[in-house]
Parts: sequence; C-alpha cells; structure tokens
Amino acid sequence: MARAKSNQPMLPFDDEASGPAELPEIKSLAEAAIAVQGCTRCSLYQFATQAVFGEGPAEASMMFVGEQPGDQEDLAGKPFVGPAGKVFDQALAAAGIDRDRVYVTNAVKHFKFQPRGKKRLHQRPNGGEIRACRFWLDLERAFVKPLVTVAMGATAVQSLLGSSATITSLRGAPTQLEDGSWVMVTIHPSYLLRMTDRGDVAAEREKFEGDLRAAKALEGKLAGAA
Ligand code: URA
Repeated sequence: MARAKSNQPMLPFDDEASGPAELPEIKSLAEAAIAVQGCTRCSLYQFATQAVFGEGPAEASMMFVGEQPGDQEDLAGKPFVGPAGKVFDQALAAAGIDRDRVYVTNAVKHFKFQPRGKKRLHQRPNGGEIRACRFWLDLERAFVKPLVTVAMGATAVQSLLGSSATITSLRGAPTQLEDGSWVMVTIHPSYLLRMTDRGDVAAEREKFEGDLRAAKALEGKLAGAA
C-alpha cells in the first residue's frame, strides 16, 4: 500500500472520493485538524455534526486507530469518549498506558449512521469511505510519526494495511510499514460491548489488554534502540 512519504500526500487519490482536487498546503497537525472540517472527500460530511480528528501529542510514539466516531464522539468532536471509549480507557489503564501520551484517532473522521427514530444507529464505513479518509490518517501519521500504531478492529486494519484479513490471523505479529514503523492489530473495544457471555468478555478483555501491553513493549524497545 502506498504510504505518505511527506506530510503532503498526493491529490486526488480515489475514484469514489469527491471534493477539491487541491487543498491548501497543510503544514502541521493543527492545520490538518482545521482543514478536515471542510472535507468533502466522501458523502459522510453531509450528515455528521462535524469531523472528529485525532487527539494527542504531536510527538507521540504510539498511535491508536479505531473505526469512526460514534454518536457521542460526533457530538463532542473528540475520539473515543463514548461507551467504546470507556472500554478503551480501562484497557489502556490496565496496560499501564497514559492516554495523554498517545495519539488517538479513527480511520474515518465522520460518523456514519442510519437515523432510527430519535436514535442514530452506527453503520460501518465502506471501502470507498475508508480509502477517501486515508488522506487524513496519512497526514496524521506523517506529522506524528509514531513508532507503533495499534489498529483496533477491521476498519483500521483495512485502512492501515490495506488488508481484509481477519483480526485473529493478524493478531500477535507486528507488521512493518514502508515508513519503517510498526502496526499491531487488536480488536475494536466495542467488540467487548457486543459480547454477551460474561466469561468470554473477561477472557477477551484480558487478551485486548495483553495486545496493548505488547504494543507498549514494542514501542519501548524501538524507542530504546532509536
Ligand atoms: N468507535 C470508534 O471506532 N471510534 C470512536 O472514536 C468511538 C467509537
């Protein structure tokens, strides 16, 4: 998969994406966070409240990538602040990772949903939407330059690795990207919310925490070697 070699990925990049062929040059993460609010690369901007950009230090050596903002994130303008965010926060704490020191973002920046009465039901982004939004993830990665990126769930895997392989088959072995950094794959925290068997939830939560510990250990090793 072609990765951003500089902080200004090529435009335009996708048949299914729409929007301007040129963007003003984006020179920092802060500028990207502003520019994303004008994104029309796919149709999701028409329905969401706002784009939800990543959050965290620009020099973070770990990045976490989820799928897309949910209902609460769409309203708050911040990633992982709803129910899945609580699961994520607990797992980070259990793994000894300080959320304030890592960069947290999503593969897709606008909430995709289906209105159902007063509710907005989450819908999974499609391949075109994921590819369209990779522009922003590439920018975030180009500015932050994480040593280790944790892909949480299938959408993040598809965006970062261009792969539709299962989480189970990719879990446990880091994959190196063209830029030399590493991607580790784990479940999306909302998977734990959807599970019904309490025993299974406890076991899966432990595995999730174990994946985060492994990512932290890899980051520590790479940072030590740098
Ligand atoms: N799910 C995600 O993938 N990201 C969020 O920010 C919230 C829920």
